Parts: sequence; C-alpha cells; structure tokens
Amino acid sequence: MLAGRRLLLVIGGGIAAYKALELIRLVRAQGGHVTPVLTRAAQQFITPLAAAALAETRAYTELFDLDDEAEMGHIRLSRAADLVLVCPATADLMARMAAGLADDLASTLLLATDTPVMVAPAMNVRMWEHPATQANVATLRRRGVTVLEPDVGPMACGEHGPGRLPEPPAILAAIAAALAPGAGPLAGRHALVTAGPTHEPIDPVRYLANRSSGRQGFAIAQALAARGARVTLVAGPVALPTPPGVTRVDVETAREMEAAVFAALPADLAVMVAAVADWRVEPAAAKLAKGEVAPALALVENPDILARLAAPGPHRPARVVGFAAETHDLLARAKAKLARKGCDMIVANDVSGDVMGGSRNAVHLVTAEGVESLPEGTKEEVAARLADRLARWFAPA
Ligand code: CTP
Repeated sequence: MLAGRRLLLVIGGGIAAYKALELIRLVRAQGGHVTPVLTRAAQQFITPLAAAALAETRAYTELFDLDDEAEMGHIRLSRAADLVLVCPATADLMARMAAGLADDLASTLLLATDTPVMVAPAMNVRMWEHPATQANVATLRRRGVTVLEPDVGPMACGEHGPGRLPEPPAILAAIAAALAPGAGPLAGRHALVTAGPTHEPIDPVRYLANRSSGRQGFAIAQALAARGARVTLVAGPVALPTPPGVTRVDVETAREMEAAVFAALPADLAVMVAAVADWRVEPAAAKLAKGEVAPALALVENPDILARLAAPGPHRPARVVGFAAETHDLLARAKAKLARKGCDMIVANDVSGDVMGGSRNAVHLVTAEGVESLPEGTKEEVAARLADRLARWFAPA
C-alpha cells in the first residue's frame, strides 16, 4: 500500500511515543520508508536507537549536528519526504507549530517543509479541550495541516475523554489516504457501511439496545477508505471518532438506519456490520411509571435492511456483504443466512466470548464458493484483511 513512499516521522514527547514505534513497524510492513526525528522530550520515553532499528535507517535528534549537516541538512531532510507526520503531537509541539517556532530540529523541520503535514495528537483531555489547544488546532487546519481527531477513552493519567493517540492502524490508514487520494484498488467505488447498535425507544428515557461498540464497522469503513473507496458510514449510537476520509451519517433506530442506507445509494459495495435491533416497540409518549402491573412490551419486527438491500433490483449494490454474529452453530447459521438474505458474502463471527465491545475478532468469510477463515487479530487487522479480500471483487479481470 505504501511501497516506496517516504514518511518523515516527528516523534513528540508523550507517553504515547511508544506507539510511534509500532507505527514505524506498520509503515515498513507496507513497504514505506520512515525517517524518525525525536524531540528531546520524546527521548525521555523512547530511544533513537529503537526508532532507528525499526525504521532500518538513522534517527535524527539534533538541530546543530556537524555530521548531519554534512550528510543531509535540515532543509533537505524536511523536504525529502512525501508526508511529514507528527506522532504523537503534544500540546506543546502543536503550540510551537502554530506559533512558527524553530528552536529545535523538529520545529525547524516543520517550519521549513513544503510537503503535506499530518498531526496525530495525544494529550490529557483537559489539555486537548483547552481553548489554547483548540485555537492552535484550528490555526493548523486553516493552514492545510491534517489534524487527526484523537481517540476517546481512558488515559495514562487516569482521566477519560478525547485525547488518546489514535491506534497505529488508524494512523496508517490516514497516511495511506493522504498519500494516495483517489488511488488504490477501490478508487472510484462507493462503499456503504453500517455499524454500531440501534436504539429503539421504549419511552422518552428508555430504549432497547445491544452490546455492539461499532469498532469493527468503523475499522472496515476506514480500511475501505484507505484502499481508495468513497465511503459512507451509517452509524448507530456509538462513541467513536469518524475515520479520516469517511462520510458519516448518524442514526438512532433501525428505521432511521434503513432510510439513511437507501438515501446513500447508489453504491458499488455494501458491508452491513451494524447489529440492528430485530424488534422495536411503539414508544410511549410519556415516561412509563412503576405501577402495580409491569408494562408489557409489544415487540414489532424491524425491517431487515440487509435483505431489502440485497434483493434483486436496480438499487442493489454490485456486492453486498452481511455479518452474522452467532453464539452457536456458527458456520451452519452463516450459510443459511447467506441464502436467506441474498447477499454475496456473510462474515461470520463467534460472539459467545467478549467480541462484542472487545478489541479482537476472528471471522470466517462464507460465500457460495465456500468458507475462508481469517486469522484472529485486532478488529483493525481483521478489517484490513477483509478489505483486501473485498477489493479483489473489483480488480480488473
Ligand atoms: N441486519 C439488517 N437489518 C436488520 C437485521 C439485521 O441489516 N433488521 C443485518 C446485519 O447488519 C447483519 C446481518 O443482517 O449484517 C445479520 O443480522 P442478524 O441479526 O444476525 O440476522 P437475523 O436475520 O436477525 O437472523 P437471526 O436472528 O436468525 O440470527
């Protein structure tokens, strides 16, 4: 995906610096070259030796270094890349970029470069939300810098909220999308992805839901975008950042999801990952109160979005993929679902463990031709393998 592409990786000083090492490994595995630059603060967390060993090239640290200047001046270093990535970008580093400071190698490179710059922020939630940081982010974006949205979750400092470094596979996808807009095996294709649970209101304060986190669907949307597709992601209620380059439509109920899916057509590929509630109730207009008799919920079946989309007709995407989350008889039920729903592939996953809401997954791809099992991995790794497999459908013959 990144064969021959050159990345200048500016590593800032934060606890997430160790993830920059993982990113170097991922970029190398895709055939990309990485030149690491470590700020002084970064060297409190990881060593130049670790970065250099993984990058299989030297790592730079000093602005005034006779050897470096003789070998490759900082201006040349800043321009000999296809993309400059700051990862992790601390609040301080972004403030210095916004102010145009150039008092160390990293800030000097960032001021001298004429190549596109991407920033992956990582910091405490209060620092991220501080008006000073938000103003710096706005300034950088106005100047054309791509600032990735930080992830939401628990932090090393014990707090919770936005500010976590996006996971390395997500950053890798953003790099691929930045370096190859309109390129990739799915270039020119429109992919429609559903993700997350749906919420079916019972009354103004209660709803029926399920444990879906949306992570697998979001990762698939991102992996398809990284392979060049234009992606529309119809998302139920989840707490996840929008993957870079993806158009997101937020919905709450199954019927809203159905409407959003059909409004997004035509599409070449549909991947229905959402855990759509099978039933809804006719919601009460006012909050149900506790009485002597518990209210009975009259369940009404929801529309089957996948079956409707996969039914023959001019609206049908060329390829339709469904998911089957099962706790038992996985493959037999997946094969039955393939036929019953009329889709081209069922991605079968066993949710008897903690897959729903968890971070790892193992899936089997069930098609009319047979069953292929993908190796177990993170939801991002599963998404990447699945996207590669789906892209084969669209490869020129
Ligand atoms: N799906 C959908 N609309 C629904 C229900 C499911 O689009 N109302 C899609 C899901 O996104 C998933 C696939 O259908 O891709 C499988 O959903 P599942 O709920 O497992 O299938 P069911 O038809 O409900 O089968 P069963 O309840 O027998 O397991």
